[in-house]
Amino acid sequence: MALSLINAAYIIAALLFIFSLAGLSRHETAKEGNVLGMVGMGVALLGTLWLAGQRAEWLNWVAIAVAMAVGAAVGIRRARRVQMTGMPELIAMLHSFVGLAAVLVGYNSYLSGESDAVHSVEVFLGVFIGAVTLTGSVVAFLKLSARMSSRPLMLPARHWLNLTALVVSAGLLVWFVATLSIVPLAVMTVTALLFGWHLVASIGGGDMPVVVSMLNSYSGWAAAAAGFMLGNDLLIVTGALVGSSGAYLSYIMCRAMNRSFVSVIAGGFGSDGAVGNADVDYGDHRETTAEDVADLLTSAQSVVITPGYGMAVAQAQYPVAELTAKLRERGVTVRFGIHPVAGRLPGHMNVLLAEARVPYDIVLEMDEVNPDLPDTDVVLVIGANDTVNPAAEEDPTSPIAGMPVIEVWKARHVVVFKRSMNAGYAGVQNPLFFRENTAMLFGDAKDRVEDIIKAL
Ligand code: TAP
Repeated sequence: MALSLINAAYIIAALLFIFSLAGLSRHETAKEGNVLGMVGMGVALLGTLWLAGQRAEWLNWVAIAVAMAVGAAVGIRRARRVQMTGMPELIAMLHSFVGLAAVLVGYNSYLSGESDAVHSVEVFLGVFIGAVTLTGSVVAFLKLSARMSSRPLMLPARHWLNLTALVVSAGLLVWFVATLSIVPLAVMTVTALLFGWHLVASIGGGDMPVVVSMLNSYSGWAAAAAGFMLGNDLLIVTGALVGSSGAYLSYIMCRAMNRSFVSVIAGGFGSDGAVGNADVDYGDHRETTAEDVADLLTSAQSVVITPGYGMAVAQAQYPVAELTAKLRERGVTVRFGIHPVAGRLPGHMNVLLAEARVPYDIVLEMDEVNPDLPDTDVVLVIGANDTVNPAAEEDPTSPIAGMPVIEVWKARHVVVFKRSMNAGYAGVQNPLFFRENTAMLFGDAKDRVEDIIKAL
């Protein structure tokens, strides 16, 4: 009776996770999706606690309750303190815990002495995926938090090194299943830790978003592997959901950045380390003032706003929302054009705009807004750079060549909000800043937008 109730709790939790993912796929329903996920996790945790109670493992019960309390306290503290701009590195750090957990579960399972062939394969694969996720996520955390250079590590024969690690691990798997000795398991763990480290270290800064979602996927598979080892169906289902949705998100992002998915999985892809076009002379740029931009906006009929990472840094979403409301009151058509990898995490800009209560129906995706840009009077580029760089389309030698971009230069007037002429995340110069129809409005994006509101 009790066990079937626990199974029912697990099924309910799994369904809630599926509904949660469905909710998270659209920004209108994302909040509900989050709530469903939290309720699902609550049900799953209660079910697990109850299971421990049923087995009269009171010591386990106490240990789980204490671990949950400590985990929740640390988690709540971190989540409350993190800035929106620090979210990707927090996510990367959390992925590393999932990887570490899978390694620990694997070793625990091995040391507890169960010994059939299927179980030993589960242990081996669980530890392998967990170890890769652990060090890969640590490197992603270090790179995203600028504790490590975002340049790709370009070791000679890096693809061969990756391939060798995989082949050696496959050989160690055979040895482990045949002998159940700890030696192949330990050697594989070290190999997988180095493999994970190298895999992410050899990926360039511009391609980091894919890495974060790829590690998300790996952490899901690591959790599923832990589920197999523990014989816990819910962990298998949840891990598979995270693993497959992370893989799908990586695929979508690869398409958005024109990278091949296979080369992402293989590591060492994307930017080849070149810091492009720094020496090219694009001519002079033109500066403008908040008052002039206010005049330009007053005479405009259609305005498109393309935000980027700088809007997040400046926390300019609130004045941007106010400016939008003011222009709409005056009958100007205002829309937002959101690049799929603008900012530093998937959906970064959508979250900020939703936070500032910008209506969802004027927030368009890149493919929706691009065809309208030639008929747009003014584009305001608020702290975006790589995602509006024409070099991606026009310069085949650029490190971001082939990445789809928002074609803001096709509008009549473009105003770029940034603090300097510095390059964006990918480290390449942006010829947009030197175009005839582009004017630069220097300074913190929040201050400048507020100046425009005052001048309107
Ligand atoms: P970026 O290319 O990163 O450029 C942001 C621009 O904002 C910079 O040029 C910076 O110029 C400006 N800026 C910074 N702080 C500012 C402030 N307070 N006020 C005004 N401007 C400010 O931005 P993007 O166009 O959003 O492109 C995103 C890049 O990040 C892409 O290369 C993408 O591949 C990468 N990336 C994306 C993700 C995801 S999933 N979205 C994750 C990791 C990396 P100044 O310094 O001159 O002000």
